[in-house]
Amino acid sequence: MNRGWITPAQFAAFGAAGTDAHRMFSDTEGWIERLAEDVLLSHKTDAARDAMHCGLAEWAAANIWQPRRIFEKLLPRQNEDRDSPVLFSGDPALPLTGEVRENGVRYGLDFAAGYSAGLFLDQRMNRAFVRNVAPKRMLNTFAYTCSFSVAAALAGAETVSIDLSKKSLDRGRANFLMNGLDPNTGHKFIADDVLEVLPRLARRAENFDAIVLDPPTFSRGNKGRRWQVEQHLEDLVIAAMELAAPRASILVSTNCTTIQFADLERVARFALKFHRRPGDLHREAQPPDFPPGHGARTLWISLRG
Ligand SMILES: C[S@@+](CC[C@H](N)C(=O)[O-])C[C@H]1O[C@@H](n2cnc3c(N)ncnc32)[C@H](O)[C@@H]1O
Repeated sequence: MNRGWITPAQFAAFGAAGTDAHRMFSDTEGWIERLAEDVLLSHKTDAARDAMHCGLAEWAAANIWQPRRIFEKLLPRQNEDRDSPVLFSGDPALPLTGEVRENGVRYGLDFAAGYSAGLFLDQRMNRAFVRNVAPKRMLNTFAYTCSFSVAAALAGAETVSIDLSKKSLDRGRANFLMNGLDPNTGHKFIADDVLEVLPRLARRAENFDAIVLDPPTFSRGNKGRRWQVEQHLEDLVIAAMELAAPRASILVSTNCTTIQFADLERVARFALKFHRRPGDLHREAQPPDFPPGHGARTLWISLRG
């Protein structure tokens, strides 16, 4: 990347790989994502926003790619201040829904659905890993729009996706259909609190070859139950490992800025010790459009038995 901008060669390589959803620019004060024909500019300050608009105009002129629309959103200090993106330029009559492609896989977008439009781009390498692992059964917790489940299902997996939000799971079902997958055959969508569902699955002795744990930093679950990733991640990994088949892969991921890779490793080793199971830890490569320090911290636990 050149001073935070994606290079023309990287831009072309994404296109050749069937990917039109990627970062275009990254900085400490904000970033720009390409989402098919549109871009979303996320900023912490007005000064960063103005500088990114200038940079985008220069980049577009030099690289002969003009976004159809530019959306903007503020990256607020507090979750309560999160808002949907707003249209900055482009035709206001165009629909706010659309789709993007990642390695040829289609995912729906909705700029009016809230703070996030539907796909977290920093998980691209982990979705590719899931597809390569080709699990027989995959458990996707905090599934949001089920992008991990789609990646697994395309590799032949049966999937169970859990999220508190029925609306997000409905978007997940739509993502299955968009990729020619029948969401009603071999796939379950459970609109409930992950922390209540995991023990239920354990009582039924269910197990999975791949498990995705990508919880939010903070949330309120059923009956107002408070979830705080710094406090509860260890319990979550322990509860999930109960459901892991021999040789399963478990993804532990967080956006919480106070949790570093070393913390994830400590949690993973503690869970392995707790269950007396052998396992290896690895990280997928940082996506090429995400500079160090950007995107979620993620770690795979590969069980050896
Ligand atoms: C960071 S997003 C997950 C992103 C997802 N892993 C992906 O890659 O697309 C967090 C999701 O967790 C859900 N959520 C928050 N607390 C929950 C809980 N206690 N039980 C189930 N889902 C929860 C939210 O509704 C939201 O969809």
